[in-house]
Amino acid sequence: MEYRATLIPGDGIGPEVVEAALRVVEATGVRIEWERVEAGADVFVKYGTPLPDEVLNSIRTTGVALKGPIGTPIGGGFKSANVLLRQALDLYACVRPIRTIPGLPSRFENVDFVIIRENTEGLYTGLEHRVAPGVVESLKVVTEAASLRIARYAFELARRQGRPTVTAVHKANIMKLSDGLFLECARRVARDHPEIEMRELIIDNCAMQLVTHPEQFDVLLMDNLYGDILSDLGAGLVGGLGVVPGSNIGNECAVFEAVHGSAPDLAGKGRANPTAVIRSAAQLIAHLGEPEAAGRIERAVEAALSDPANHTGDLGGKATTQQLTDAILRELER
Ligand code: NAI
Repeated sequence: MEYRATLIPGDGIGPEVVEAALRVVEATGVRIEWERVEAGADVFVKYGTPLPDEVLNSIRTTGVALKGPIGTPIGGGFKSANVLLRQALDLYACVRPIRTIPGLPSRFENVDFVIIRENTEGLYTGLEHRVAPGVVESLKVVTEAASLRIARYAFELARRQGRPTVTAVHKANIMKLSDGLFLECARRVARDHPEIEMRELIIDNCAMQLVTHPEQFDVLLMDNLYGDILSDLGAGLVGGLGVVPGSNIGNECAVFEAVHGSAPDLAGKGRANPTAVIRSAAQLIAHLGEPEAAGRIERAVEAALSDPANHTGDLGGKATTQQLTDAILRELER
């Protein structure tokens, strides 16, 4: 069977690491016809938008995309294409598994939790305005519908994966209405899942617990901004941004991408770590219905990374993107 999927190479290191992922997917024997579309900063220069309609239409047709990172200007310029994409396709659940990779040196062993980030609202609605000179407001939007939906996703994932706890992360002591509603919705959903223990943790305490005892967590449920920040923290616990995959899931479509950004400091040097995008591609093919091939990619990645000679610069080694990719391909062929 041949599948169809959309491919967005992205900006910066995106095209290099996405190309590596394509080689690995091809080597599994899973056949995918990729529909290539462009989004990002270069596209903005050409078309006046970082996210042309053709990108959204392609994903609506194929239902699934592999996406490289897209750069966003700071403090001005165009709106984030990532945020626009997630909102336009209603990709409400951002799922980021944070797991120790055997053989990869990191500060902790036995880290294995999943961040479930609400992906469509919170402080990422982009509703900002100037009230008066020197005074601005950014609006945090929290709805009951989106909060219940993401909480259900988190509890369902916990049930499917046999994870005993879901920790709702919030700041409802200060943002009593917005985070209060998010938390109340999580509590309501928890009542329908008596087999799963719900814990509640204020975001600042959660950050401290993550850097001291990350092994205690199973599923972390949180809003858009907290999920963005704690995803990078989580990546730092298990080897860094170069290794952690992610997915953005909606009812109609799913977009798979690494947690990391376009890493402009590394672009074009052939030194970026392709692992995060390769593992995101593995999640994509599992989503398509090929879990066995996805498992083979995961095992090949772990085997390749168990040899420090294959480590890229972010992992303290000297290997290039191509050398690590070749090592993963060799492991796949074993
Ligand atoms: P970044 O994730 O691009 O880079 C942070 C640090 O991690 C840099 O030192 C970079 O070299 C390193 N790094 C990231 N990925 C790596 C990889 N695969 N291999 C080796 N090292 C890697 O974050 P930064 O610098 O904050 O953002 C750069 C741009 O990316 C911004 O324009 C930002 O808006 C965008 N971005 C896009 C995302 C997406 O498309 N989903 C996510 C995060 C940021």
